[in-house]
Amino acid sequence: MRIDVLTLFPAMFAGPLETSILKRAQQRGLLEIVLHAIRDYAMDRHQMTDDLPYGGGVGMVMKPEPVFNAVESLGLPDGRTPIILLSPQGRLLTHRVAKELAAHERLVLICGHYEGFDERIREHLATDELSIGDYVLTGGELAAMVVIDAVARWVPGVLGDAESAERDSFSEGLLEGPHYTRPADFRGWSVPSVLLSGNHAAIAAWRRREALRRTFRRRPALLRNLTLIEEEAAFVRELASAASEPRPDEEGISYEATSDER
Ligand code: ADE
Repeated sequence: MRIDVLTLFPAMFAGPLETSILKRAQQRGLLEIVLHAIRDYAMDRHQMTDDLPYGGGVGMVMKPEPVFNAVESLGLPDGRTPIILLSPQGRLLTHRVAKELAAHERLVLICGHYEGFDERIREHLATDELSIGDYVLTGGELAAMVVIDAVARWVPGVLGDAESAERDSFSEGLLEGPHYTRPADFRGWSVPSVLLSGNHAAIAAWRRREALRRTFRRRPALLRNLTLIEEEAAFVRELASAASEPRPDEEGISYEATSDER
């Protein structure tokens, strides 16, 4: 997979791209990240990439020419490569969106700064717009790095077997339950005995229940989209009715089992 990133600050990418799994993926040829300085595509003498907003107002707006020039210099072969703006106005990046994007051979990410992009970039150049959350960053670079990281994990071979993206939180629609490693007793806090039992079926059942419990407590709305077997649905109803359990913070969530058995 190749990802072209258009940015005013290529240097920001050095740390994340030259470390750990993203570094390994590039060395193995699974992932190619190409950084392009938008400023290099500004044609005027001062290499201006931003200008005052028409109609007045505070802040600066990213000029269209350098961004169009940079994208056009890529010579994208077809109209199928997503050209993605990073902005707080985009659709929200989720586990599913990351997986979807990873199915493309190429992506183009455009990092904005200042008050935002000239609207013609949005209307006539970009094919998609992504936000990494409902907060405003100082620029799109950190968001682009988040997108690259979340997408790269889905590229075949990028994660080792032990790191499988399929088993992560969200993959089964649930948050992951707790994990433990040695020592079995740390400062008097011991590991749940079932994990030391060697009984694989009991361990799998425990993990599933703990994932349900954690999801119920932290992200109850995720349970709404889930297919539960009767036993699991009963467990969730039990959590909901237990006085000691916090109640889900959203209304209208039903914990009925569906007819599909897992
Ligand atoms: N640029 C500024 N804030 C952003 C956000 N939340 N997501 C994506 N890009 C951004």
